[in-house]
Formats: sequence, C-alpha cells, structure tokens
Amino acid sequence: MAHFSYNDNQLTVEGCTLSAIADTYDTPCYVYSRASIEQSYQAYASALGAHPGMICYAVKANSSLAVLQVLAQQGAGFDIVSQGELQRVLAAGGSADRVIFSGVGKKAEEMRFALQQQIACFNVESAAELETLAQVAQAMGTTARVSLRVNPDVDANTHPYISTGLKENKFGVDIQTALDVYRRAASLDGIDVVGIDCHIGSQLTQLAPFMDALDRVLALMDQLAEEGITIRHLDLGGGLGVTYNNEQPPSPADYVGQVIAKLGDRAVALMFEPGRSIVANAGVLLTRVLYLKPTEHKNFAIIDAAMNDNIRPSLYQAWQRVLPVIAPEESEPTQQWDLVGPVCETGDWLAKDRALALHEGSVLALMSSGAYGFTMSSNYNSRTRAAEIMVDGDKHHLIRARETFADLVRGEQLLGSEDPS
Ligand code: LLP
Repeated sequence: MAHFSYNDNQLTVEGCTLSAIADTYDTPCYVYSRASIEQSYQAYASALGAHPGMICYAVKANSSLAVLQVLAQQGAGFDIVSQGELQRVLAAGGSADRVIFSGVGKKAEEMRFALQQQIACFNVESAAELETLAQVAQAMGTTARVSLRVNPDVDANTHPYISTGLKENKFGVDIQTALDVYRRAASLDGIDVVGIDCHIGSQLTQLAPFMDALDRVLALMDQLAEEGITIRHLDLGGGLGVTYNNEQPPSPADYVGQVIAKLGDRAVALMFEPGRSIVANAGVLLTRVLYLKPTEHKNFAIIDAAMNDNIRPSLYQAWQRVLPVIAPEESEPTQQWDLVGPVCETGDWLAKDRALALHEGSVLALMSSGAYGFTMSSNYNSRTRAAEIMVDGDKHHLIRARETFADLVRGEQLLGSEDPS
C-alpha cells in the first residue's frame, strides 16, 4: 500500500494522518487515496499502451460516486452488473459508450435502459438472455452490441466463492456450446456480435490460469473467424490479485504484456475489467477499540466496525492487515487479540490472533479495504453504514456521509399510515 506509511509514528495517507481523519469524521469510516486509485488505473492503461482497447473498472468493487469520478477523469471505461451501477457511472461523469454490461441476470428493463444510453457492449451470459436482448433491441428499433461470456473451464486456484470459470459455476456459456450460441447471435436481428469474453475468478495471484483461459478463448475465436463471425474485441474480465499479506501477484504490465504477446497477428482490441487491483490497496477501514475483554481462552477487542461494515473476513475468512494509526512505543508489550464487532453473531470478526498493543480508544486501520468493503456493507443490526473519505494530497473530503436513522427507515411505513391515494 504505497500511499500509506508511518511518518513520525503516525500512519499517514498521502499528506494526511489517519488519526486526524478519525477525529474529524469519527469511526468507523472508509478512507481512500486518490493518488493510489489513479496510479493503479494508470498501471493498466500504460500496460495496454497503444494497443486498441479499454480498461473497464469493475464498479462492484467500489461504486462510490467520487471513486467513479476519479476513474472517469482518468479515462477509464466501466464494467457494470446492474442498472444502478450504470446510473452511478453516468452520475459520476462517466460516458455510456465506455460501459460494458456483465452479469447473469439482466432484466429486460435494465437492457432497455442500457440500450437507450447506447452502452458499448453487453456481455451476454446465456442463450436465453441473448433471445431477450434481441427482442428488447428489436422492439426499440435498435441494435445491441454483444460479446458472449464463455466459461473456459479452468481452475483459478482461488477461494471457491470467488472462482467463476469452472463448469460447475453459474457464469457464462460452456465453451463447447458457445459456437452454437454465436451462430444464433449472428443470425438475430437486433444483435451485432462484436466480442468474446471470460472472467475466471478473483484474487488470482498467478498468470497461468489467465493464460490457459486465453488459449481456449483464442481457439474459439479462430473457429468463429472460419465461420465468418468476426470478433473485434477480446475481454479477459478482471481477477488480478493484490497483496493482502505476502501474496506476490503479477503486475498489470506482466499480465497485459503476456496477453498481447499471445495474440500473435490477430487484430483484436483488448478489454480488461479490473476491480480489486484498482481499489483494494487504495483504502482502509478505520475503527476504534470500544472495550477490551481478555478471557481465559482468548483476548477480545471489541471494535466499532463489524461484519456489516466489511463482510470479507466472515464470508471468505479473508485476512487483512491491522495497523494502529499511532505506532505504540517499542517498549509497549503486545498481546494476541481477536478483533470483533458489536453485531450479535459469532462470525462477526474482522481479524483474529493479532499481536497488538491495545487500549480502549485505540484507533486501528484495517488495511486493503478499498475493494468489496463498503459495497458489500449492510444495515444488519440496524447499524448505519460508515462514512467514506477521499484523501487528495493534504486535503480530505467527505464523499459519503455516515448514515442516520432517517436513512435506515427510508421508505418504511407503519401499518395504517399508508397514503390513502
Ligand atoms: N468482471 C466480472 C464479470 C466479475 O464478476 C468481477 C468480479 C470482476 C470483473 C472484477 O474482478 P476483480 O478484478 O475485482 O477480481 N467479493 C469478493 C470478490 C467478488 C468478485 C466478483 N466478480 C471479495 O471480496 O473477495
């Protein structure tokens, strides 16, 4: 996390200390580094260089408007999976002609909205979806640009919940039947076949699975060319991993470079849909220790962030580093602590067995929280969702206010109080 480091015992991000941010906005809160987001995006953009194509940031990783705004200003495209994400991109200043629409369950009305906005491409995930999209486009008198998501059946060697490219997963079209679906797509009014895509999983720390998938997709592309179906862009999805602990994922330059090398003389544009590798290490979750509860078996530190703020540890047993925002004196003894939240679930923990010197009131940073942190947060236990702050040099900006009770009950009604109209 290049933009986060200790300076005079204070954990800082760009030109701001995290302790000052905790004092200003209270905890729990997410804090992002603008420079870090920009740097990660540029690593992809410069890896692609002059090769035609687009880096479409996967909005699901972090969809806060200001994050999308920063990326739109860098020239990013966007990978969306719902109308809501498309509306966010547009609200943040992104342009629809740089948007691709992924996901297994697009509704007809979402397709209609996306067609009205003239998005770049739909990543179609099934034969049935293709038929619906064709009908929607025909009824509107327009044409949908389409790429078929193929499932290359490769093992991404990652957590089973975030592995998507195996036959038994719900995603994409089996590579054997893809040829038939392409033939059908090429014959349908309202459909313009432009691409091929795959996404095999997330948090991949090696290139081999990507390259295996690419081999299979290229073979299909060549077969399609023989049948006169020309593929103009190849989209390899997202999935490049990040360092949470001591993982050493390949760089975007290595990855994109190897992909370009494998294309040979095929004239095809390249698309990537990175999410985590753009934002994960650009953000932290700040939390404060409420109570220390040492027991015979374990030492619990009860903190003010919980599984509703970041569900990754509970859901995937994810490990994220914990750092104090003010480094303790070296002489201060550490103890092993489990960091647990106030939610009434045994699975409500953010870190286990960490050697820390803690006091009531200590502020801690849960590192690498920029991706799938806030976006997966919920109101469980009627907890208001956290504030979000963007640091830009020596300035910090509130980009999302902490929720209030009014936000919690918005849209709810007591029985008998319905509007009589
Ligand atoms: N494209 C598609 C079609 C995807 O399904 C995903 C992520 C991405 C791109 C972006 O992948 P990335 O570059 O972020 O790996 N909540 C989980 C991760 C779920 C990923 C879902 N799909 C986590 O916190 O680890």
